[in-house]
Amino acid sequence: HAADAYRTDLMTITRFVLNEQSKYPESRGDFSILLSHIVLGCKFVCSAVNKAGLAKLIGLAGETNVQGEEQKKLDVLSNEVFVKALVSSGRTCILVSEEDEEATFVEHSKRGKYCVVFDPLDGSSNIDCGVSIGTIFGIYLVKDGAEPTVGDVLKPGKNMVAAGYCMYGSSCTLVLSSGSGVNGFTLDPSLGEFILTHPDIRIPKKGKIYSVNEGNAKNWDEPTRKYVERCKFPQDGSSPKSLRYIGSMVADVHRTLLYGGIFMYPADKKSPNGKLRVLYEVFPMSFLMEQAGGQAFTGNIRALDLVPTKIHQRSPVFLGSYDDVEEIKALYAAQE
Ligand code: AHG
Ligand code: MN
Ligand code: MN
Ligand code: MN
Repeated sequence: HAADAYRTDLMTITRFVLNEQSKYPESRGDFSILLSHIVLGCKFVCSAVNKAGLAKLIGLAGETNVQGEEQKKLDVLSNEVFVKALVSSGRTCILVSEEDEEATFVEHSKRGKYCVVFDPLDGSSNIDCGVSIGTIFGIYLVKDGAEPTVGDVLKPGKNMVAAGYCMYGSSCTLVLSSGSGVNGFTLDPSLGEFILTHPDIRIPKKGKIYSVNEGNAKNWDEPTRKYVERCKFPQDGSSPKSLRYIGSMVADVHRTLLYGGIFMYPADKKSPNGKLRVLYEVFPMSFLMEQAGGQAFTGNIRALDLVPTKIHQRSPVFLGSYDDVEEIKALYAAQE
């Protein structure tokens, strides 16, 4: 009966993507091969994160990265694992990582047509206390033939062909979109396979949760201050929203995607471009939100329309349920 069929008809992420790619007659499996190498990286980081407490992998690596952040061993390890996995896939030509100051140009013999931008370990300040962390990635298709340049990755997020994240929490969940909806897969450690567990994720049109670091409230601009005020003291008689803030973007976004609501990292007087990086945090999460029926806004324009000029450029971001983001857009429009 149904349960048995379900158990024997394992929809692995590999099978799922092959099915999806078969819709494109010209596809020669390159995307599926690229994805299988990203999945390999996620499986490795998942096992390293789970062992971190035991293997004393936590704690500082003693260096700081271009972001001026102390690098934790897992940051460094995850970055190396993803760079090696992506290069060995033979399907990439440029890699941009939060942990590398410059873009990596893959050697000719291993070059492919994809550019991958990624945050190998997101939420690293939460490693030592065991709170969920993750990996975020976005994929651009670069025009083949020409010598790749950094300009190939300074493209608006709407040009991405795919984006996703893997969350290392109570279970290891990979959420992915390649442009036709959002699907979630959970790692079955006994098989070492990601199995489809969240088909066709759709974010609720409106939510009851707002997610922001209230510790920055002193420095917020007027529209953000007004919006958060409304969340706490609604004027239309509705009940106040709940505040949920984990401090790992992957965990906060995953909850927003499944439960609805809004996630914000606004600009403030100290950091006029907010904190989150455009290429490998704002764009992939905005891509997923739009694909799930939500939206993402920078305080100025649609997030995916932003054209970055530097690979580690930051931008404010307001993303989540369609109606909730509409409200903050109206407040920014009113201030003009
Ligand atoms: P990363 O660990 O990759 O540098 O990213 C951390 C980011 C993001 O995960 C999270 O949303 C944000 O930092 C939290 O910032 P605050 O601690 O300033 O709220
Ligand atoms: Mn960091
Ligand atoms: Mn991050
Ligand atoms: Mn990171």
